[in-house]
Amino acid sequence: MDRIGVLTSGGDNSGLNPCIRAVVRMGLHEGVERMGIRRGYAGLIAGEIDEMDARDVGGILGRGGTILGTARAPEFETLQGRRKALRTLNRFDIDGLVVIGGNGSLTGALELHHLDFPTIGIPSTIDNDINGTDISIGVDTALNTILGAIDKIKDTASSHNRAFLIETMGRNSGYLALASGLAGGAELVLCPEIESTLDDVAETVEKAYIRGKAHAIIVVAEGWKPGTDEIARELNAREEELGFSVRVTRLGHVQRGGSPSAFDRILATRLGAEAVRQLVGGNSGHMVGWLNSDFHILPLDEAVTYQKELDKDLYNLSTIMDK
Ligand code: F6P
Repeated sequence: MDRIGVLTSGGDNSGLNPCIRAVVRMGLHEGVERMGIRRGYAGLIAGEIDEMDARDVGGILGRGGTILGTARAPEFETLQGRRKALRTLNRFDIDGLVVIGGNGSLTGALELHHLDFPTIGIPSTIDNDINGTDISIGVDTALNTILGAIDKIKDTASSHNRAFLIETMGRNSGYLALASGLAGGAELVLCPEIESTLDDVAETVEKAYIRGKAHAIIVVAEGWKPGTDEIARELNAREEELGFSVRVTRLGHVQRGGSPSAFDRILATRLGAEAVRQLVGGNSGHMVGWLNSDFHILPLDEAVTYQKELDKDLYNLSTIMDK
């Protein structure tokens, strides 16, 4: 293998830049040329590609976002779009590709592998919903951002004796809500994977009031149904009975930005470097994950076919801590 490409695709997160840096510098170490592909699969189809050297990735370890840019690329979901991508890869003499991204991006990597193009994936999404890895790049930084917000909201919630609904991202996964709720001492966490009724939530708020708590914090995953607005309406309508008035904070895209944490920088560097080793060593159609404090190399179809399950023990622990 003489020349490898690297792209970031799908929703961004903090940790993509350290990963790009690791791919480029390990590529240098392995003696292969490195091509940076802009705007994910959209840029691959359009041929937005430049050579990358050690200096091109200097000073980016601590920067959020991705210097390569990212995009969602519906055209790549069609066979015609993928054929166009293969033409570009041939035109630029690229022999192997590292794809850094979430579920959709890794599915794209698997499709290229099925078209006989050597491809290795790296899990990178704040949702932490990818199988075969304990954690994806970007999760730790997002969690710390959420935790900082929960701590701040607790200050104002306690001063005013209010209940707060804090909505996290996560698409269909409750991981971010659960982990931040546990670390932030929330009274309740609402995840799509666990059924909770409006009455359950109202009961939690009422109990917190009766126990003499100064606030009630409920972390709601964006994928939880019937949804944050519905629960806010219900709690507000029952304010007299429950004791606390309610406010809503949606954290939104703030969760995807910011300087990557030490954990994310190290994880991204290790996974990026290992992905290059795997590609140069002749592997394809696999993801480099991180399981039980070590690399876990697994077929991409195992990583993307099923959504990772929520850790029920962690959820049960969060319910015990709510006293
Ligand atoms: O997959 C990452 C994620 O941030 C999800 O948590 C969220 O549902 C989605 O992307 C938001 O996507 P967009 O930035 O396109 O609105």
